[in-house]
Amino acid sequence: MVNIVLFGPPGSGKGTQADKLLAKYQLVHISTGDLLREEVENETPLGLEAKDFMDKGLLVPDEVVIGMIKTKIEKNPEANGFIFDGFPRTKEQAESLDNLLDLKSTGITKVLQLEVGEEELVSRLKSRGESSGRSDDKDENIIRQRIEEYENKTAPVAAYYADQDKLVKIPGEGTIDEVFSRLCQEMDTIFA
Ligand code: AP5
Ligand code: MG
Repeated sequence: MVNIVLFGPPGSGKGTQADKLLAKYQLVHISTGDLLREEVENETPLGLEAKDFMDKGLLVPDEVVIGMIKTKIEKNPEANGFIFDGFPRTKEQAESLDNLLDLKSTGITKVLQLEVGEEELVSRLKSRGESSGRSDDKDENIIRQRIEEYENKTAPVAAYYADQDKLVKIPGEGTIDEVFSRLCQEMDTIFA
């Protein structure tokens, strides 16, 4: 199996690039943000618990997202591999993911970290907020809170993967296609 983590701050292009990568490499896309928004929309108990955190731009508690990931991995026993988007976001999540993949005798192949400057992130998310309907895109303060949460709690997870020689930094500015071709160069080294 080939298991990729797309890592990076809010607005860095994880979702956009994951969609393009899964079409090219036949991997299953798992976005914890998308899974959580589905739970919120369906007003499940999990969704109701998560909504408050999401609306404030804060991370949802680890046990909630880890449970969701476990279910999603189990639902795809035939997958060639996964692209994890927006997960893991804490060291505890990273360790749980390793344990879950270990049960399938596999592990994380590579972590691709999209690097984008803060003002570009804010500008992308504010402009998406005009049409997306995402409650956490509407207010610049919430957008900045999400970025701060990333810097404080998620960015340190990069070191966990760098220690295992799995981290690759990719410039995330430029057009969507330019970023995609940088990612493909890395992906192609795996499939070569
Ligand atoms: P999540 O849904 O993961 O959101 P996020 O990380 O804040 O990031 P986004 O989805 O907004 O950005 P993205 O990097 O996917 O960029 P995109 O491709 O969309 O999480 C939402 C919330 O859920 C969290 O705040 C938290 O509360 C909770 N949550 C989720 N996972 C969790 C976890 N593991 N643990 C705890 N809590 C969790 O692009 C953004 C915009 O930019 C788009 O409009 C796009 O068209 C545009 N764009 C993309 N690339 C380019 C480019 N190259 N040039 C110009 N524009 C571009
Ligand atoms: Mg996303």
